[in-house]
Amino acid sequence: MLTRFTHLTFFLDLSEEMIALAEAAAKRAAERAEGMTHHRDYEALAAVALCFQPRRIFEIGTYRGVTSDFFLSLLPESRVVSIAYENPRLRIFGGHSNNSELGRTEIGSMVSPENRPRFTQLYGNSHKLDSKSLRRECGPFDLVFVDGDHSRTGVAADTVLAQEVLASGGTICWHDANPKPAYLEVRHFLEKELSLPAAATADDFVGGVACWNSEIERRLAQNRSAVA
Ligand SMILES: C[S@@+](CC[C@H](N)C(=O)[O-])C[C@H]1O[C@@H](n2cnc3c(N)ncnc32)[C@H](O)[C@@H]1O
Repeated sequence: MLTRFTHLTFFLDLSEEMIALAEAAAKRAAERAEGMTHHRDYEALAAVALCFQPRRIFEIGTYRGVTSDFFLSLLPESRVVSIAYENPRLRIFGGHSNNSELGRTEIGSMVSPENRPRFTQLYGNSHKLDSKSLRRECGPFDLVFVDGDHSRTGVAADTVLAQEVLASGGTICWHDANPKPAYLEVRHFLEKELSLPAAATADDFVGGVACWNSEIERRLAQNRSAVA
C-alpha cells in the first residue's frame, strides 16, 4: 500500500539545509545515472538517508554503482554492500528478468576510488542469498534498497530478503513505484500486494521511490488521523 507525496523532504520534515544538500546530491547523481534513475528518485533517497542516517546499507541490484556511490558520498560514515546478477558468458543461461548487460568489470565501476574502501560488491542472484549468513557477515542493515529483479515474484522475494536482513528500526526503499512499462509489475506489487504502509513519490515522472520504516508508518497513521 502506497501513500504518495510530491516531496518526501517535506513529509520527513527535513531542515532547509538538508533539503539543499539532498537537492545538490540528487542533481549530481541523476547526471551520472544518465536516465536510469530520475533526480526526483535521488531527492527521495537523499531525504530518507539524511533523515534516518543509515550506517549499513544493502543495495539489491548494483548496475554501474551510481546509487551505491551516491549513498557513500552523502553519508561519509556509511558502508554499502551491493549485489548484482552477473550474466553467464552463454546468454541462453541468463537469469529470468535479469536487466543487466554488464560484464564483471563494469558492474559497480562508478563507485569512486575514495569510496571504494566502504563498498563491498557481491556477484550473484539475490534470490539465492542465505539471509542468515548475509546478516551475520555484513549486516544487519539500516537501509535496504530494492532495485534488482523487476518481476513480481522477483520484487516480492527481494522484499522478504530485505525484511530478513533489516536491523530493528531499519528502512526499506524500493525503486520503480511508477516505472517504465517494462517494470510495471513492481508498481503493481507495491500498490496492491505490499502489506507494509509505505510513503512514495508522486507518479508524475518515470521511476519512483517508495520507502517504509516504523517511523514512516507512524507518520502515515498520524497524517491519516489528521485528515479524518
Ligand atoms: C535497474 S539496475 C540497478 C540500478 C542501480 N540500483 C542504480 O540505481 O544505479 C538492476 C540491476 O539489478 C541486477 N539484478 C537483476 N536481477 C537480479 C537478481 N536476481 N539478483 C541480483 N541482481 C539482480 C541487474 O544485474 C542490474 O545490475
